[in-house]
Amino acid sequence: MKTIRIFDTTLRDGEQMPGVSLPPVYKVQIARALDRLGVDVIEAGFPAISKGEFDAVKEISSLGLNSEICGLARIVKEDIDSAIDAGVDMIHVFTPTSKIQVEHTIKISREEIIDKSVECVEYVKSHGLKCMFSAMDATRTEFEYLEKIYKAVEGAGVDIINIPDTVGVATPFKFYELVKKLREDIKVMLDVHCHNDFGLAVANSYVAVMAGADEVQVTVNGVGERAGNASLEQVVMILHSLEGIKTNIKTELLFDTSKLVERLTGVKMPPNTPIIGENAFSHESGIHAHGVIKEASTFEPGVLKPEMVGHRRRIVIGKHAGRHQIKKILEDAGYTVDDETLNKIFEKVKEMGDKGKRVTDRDLFTITEIMLGELKREEKVITVDEITVITGNKITPTAVINAEVLGERKVTSAIGVGPVDASLKAVMQLVGGVMHIREFRLDAISGGSDAIAEVYVTVEDDQGNIFTSRGAAQDIVMASFDAVINAANYLLLIRRKKGGL
Ligand code: KIV
Ligand code: ZN
Repeated sequence: MKTIRIFDTTLRDGEQMPGVSLPPVYKVQIARALDRLGVDVIEAGFPAISKGEFDAVKEISSLGLNSEICGLARIVKEDIDSAIDAGVDMIHVFTPTSKIQVEHTIKISREEIIDKSVECVEYVKSHGLKCMFSAMDATRTEFEYLEKIYKAVEGAGVDIINIPDTVGVATPFKFYELVKKLREDIKVMLDVHCHNDFGLAVANSYVAVMAGADEVQVTVNGVGERAGNASLEQVVMILHSLEGIKTNIKTELLFDTSKLVERLTGVKMPPNTPIIGENAFSHESGIHAHGVIKEASTFEPGVLKPEMVGHRRRIVIGKHAGRHQIKKILEDAGYTVDDETLNKIFEKVKEMGDKGKRVTDRDLFTITEIMLGELKREEKVITVDEITVITGNKITPTAVINAEVLGERKVTSAIGVGPVDASLKAVMQLVGGVMHIREFRLDAISGGSDAIAEVYVTVEDDQGNIFTSRGAAQDIVMASFDAVINAANYLLLIRRKKGGL
């Protein structure tokens, strides 16, 4: 069975997402991550659009990555020259082909479009480069014209023909038929580029492979124009896990790559996003969690395991939690509770859940410790004596913490993009860099400039311990600081209980 090629366009179509603009250093960082991930092609950008874009594509082309580097160009010689000068391995030449796009955008005859496309493909090939050709809006282009232009560029020596569903209107049955029909006519490699306007980008990419496509264009986290492109993670795992179809992707790097793109693009994935979302392998309901604790595949697909994509399974607490799951979370954190205490904790958790509260690990452990009579007040291994945070115009936000950590006096300082970032970085330093913040959510729970800010955080350490906590204050910095320092305190306690300090 053939290996399906993965053409990643996070740095080109992904960057066209409203609100996303990647400085060259971020582009290079993402390109390196995509290369490690094993994508076959990185579409690094559209070199002709700006000097910054040209420089970024040039730099990525010079990195000596294993992935082929591709640059986008219209059917315009200057665009192609710009991509050649940027040192790419492949040029992706595109032109509108549907009546509506031709009439309102390119304004030349459809015969001229074919002639120009042929000339451009020949021009790219004469420079010894690989060439991909896209008939933009292919799914709204009459089949006869589409076939004609594709056959013409195939005759001109194109290497790959792309079928874009530019405005995401294809449906899986129709798209399957279209790709199959073109597959019968076209000998060179076929590739598809699906947009997600109706939420069908992944399904359409999948059926295209089943219809004979050799390559799929995807983006990490599905970022892209409007509703985005087909998500790399989802397409790859559908092929691997559900169809046994190979790609060159190192799937265990998917979660980390997704997080990097999330951080650098600023586009946060909802928790219920398949494969890489925070909840993709989290279980709260008692029945599910009980099953999963015994045998994970009772309430997970089985053919998709968190470790396959570099993710983690989590049993979380909430009003749907069962006794087994609470016991397991407590045991994992080093607490031993008898059945009577467990029942009391269980009731308390339900009560909090019924009041609409998200129950954090910190809440659960505090309840447990009170029930066990271990604590009259929270045990502390971190005692903060002073925290100073400065910010302002032309001042780099800086935080300084003076604290006792596990009996040792420590003073740490950090700078950040803002006062919250600086203070959280200073806390991470305080605990010796063994933790990182996995999730951070800030909500205003009352209106006005004096609103109470509630911060919810998930902190993870290098031993895989995860802890959720919350902080609330009118001062956003202090609410954030409180949530994170408490999470760090508990993680150190858990490490000490487990003998991992
Ligand atoms: O959506 C689209 O048609 C594109 C082309 C440039 C392939 O992004
Ligand atoms: Zn696109």
